[in-house]
Amino acid sequence: MPGENGETLLDVRGLTVEYLSERGSVCACDDVSFTVRRGEILGVAGESGSGKSTLITALTRLERPPAVTTAGEILFRPRGAAEPVDLVGLTERDLRKLRWRDMAIVLQSAMNALNPVMRLSAQFTDVLREHDRTLSRQDARERTGELLALVGLTADQANRYPHELSGGTRQRATIALALACGADLVVMDEPTTAVDVVMQRQILANILRLRARLGFAVVFVTHDLSLLVELADRIAIMYAGRIVEIGTAFDIYHRPGHPYTEGLRASFPPLREPVRLLSGIPGSPPDLRDPPPGCAFHPRCPHRFAACDSVLPVLRPVGDQQVACLLHSGRSAQEPARKERTDDAVGH
Ligand SMILES: Nc1ncnc2c1ncn2[C@@H]1O[C@H](COP(=O)(O)OP(=O)(O)O)[C@@H](O)[C@H]1O
Ligand code: SF4
Ligand SMILES: [Mg+2]
Repeated sequence: MPGENGETLLDVRGLTVEYLSERGSVCACDDVSFTVRRGEILGVAGESGSGKSTLITALTRLERPPAVTTAGEILFRPRGAAEPVDLVGLTERDLRKLRWRDMAIVLQSAMNALNPVMRLSAQFTDVLREHDRTLSRQDARERTGELLALVGLTADQANRYPHELSGGTRQRATIALALACGADLVVMDEPTTAVDVVMQRQILANILRLRARLGFAVVFVTHDLSLLVELADRIAIMYAGRIVEIGTAFDIYHRPGHPYTEGLRASFPPLREPVRLLSGIPGSPPDLRDPPPGCAFHPRCPHRFAACDSVLPVLRPVGDQQVACLLHSGRSAQEPARKERTDDAVGH
C-alpha cells in the first residue's frame, strides 16, 4: 500500500467543530482523530449529514461562522518543513500561502476554487508557473492541454471562463488543477457528484495514476462507499459527527466491524458487481441538534442492546481496524442500561 511505511503528513487530533447559534450549539465534528501518511489515499464515507463537509472545511481552515473549531489540532508537515505546523493556530495570511502550494482543495462547489474573471487556460498556466518558475509560457500551455485532457476537457473548453461551463466541467477542471499543482495533500469533498459514471471512473483512474507519479496524499470524501473501495488505501466511516470505524479499504469492505459500516456496504454494492436489491439502513441519520444518547446509531442498529442508549462507544482496536461499538468493548449485551451517558473508555 503506498504510504504504508511513509512518514505522517497529517495528524488530526480531537478535532471538534460546532455550529453556534442563540438556540444552542450543534456539534457536527466531534473529537475526530486520524492520520494520513505521505502518498496515502484516505477515504471518508458516511450518509448525508454525517459531518463530512464540516470536517473537511475545518481541516482546510475554510470554515465560516456559525462553524467554529472548539477543540483539536491539525498537525501538517509539508515537504521541506522541519516540524509539523498546527493549522488551527495559523493566520489567514499563512494559510493562503500554504493552500495550493502544499494543500490543494476541491470542494463540492467547484466555483470556489476557480477565479471567475480568468479563462481556465490562464488559471492553469499561472498555477503551473507558480509551482515551477523555470516553466516557459509555451511549456505551461502544453502541460495545461495534457492536464485538461486527463479529465476529458477540450482546448475549446479551456479557453472559456468558469461561468460559461457546466458544473460538471468546472468540477473536472478543478480536479485537474488540484492534482497538477504539486501539493503534498489534495483534499476533495464529493468531487465527482456532478459528473457521469464513465467520467467518474476516468477521474479515479487518473487520481491513482498521478498519485503514483507525483506521490501526493489524498483525503477523499464521498457518501459512496463502493467508490472508495476502488480508490482508497484506508477508509474512515463517519456517523453523527464521529468516526465510528477506520481501517484498510479491504477490511472495511470485507470485514466491517461496525453495524453502520455493514449497512453502508449493503447500500452501495461494488462498482464491478451486478446490480442487486439493496438492503440499505432503515431510518435516517439523527438530527444533530438533538442527538440520541449513548451510541448515536442505536435507534437504527439491528444489534443494539441495553447499554447502547447510554454508553458512548469510543474507537478501539478490533483486528487491524479501529471500531467504536460496544459489541467490541467487552461489555456484555445483557448489561443493564445506565441512566446517564458515560464514555466506554472510562475504567479501561
Ligand atoms: N450552516 C450550518 N448551520 C448549522 N448547522 C449546520 C450547518 N451546516 C451543517 N450543519 C450541521 O452539520 C451537520 C453535518 O453537515 P455536513 O458536514 O454538511 O454533512 P455531510 O457533508 O456529511 O453531508 C448537518 O446535519 C447539520 O446538523
Ligand atoms: S454500540 Fe450498540 S447501537 Fe451502537 S453500533 Fe454497536 S451494537 Fe449498535
Ligand atoms: Mg457534504
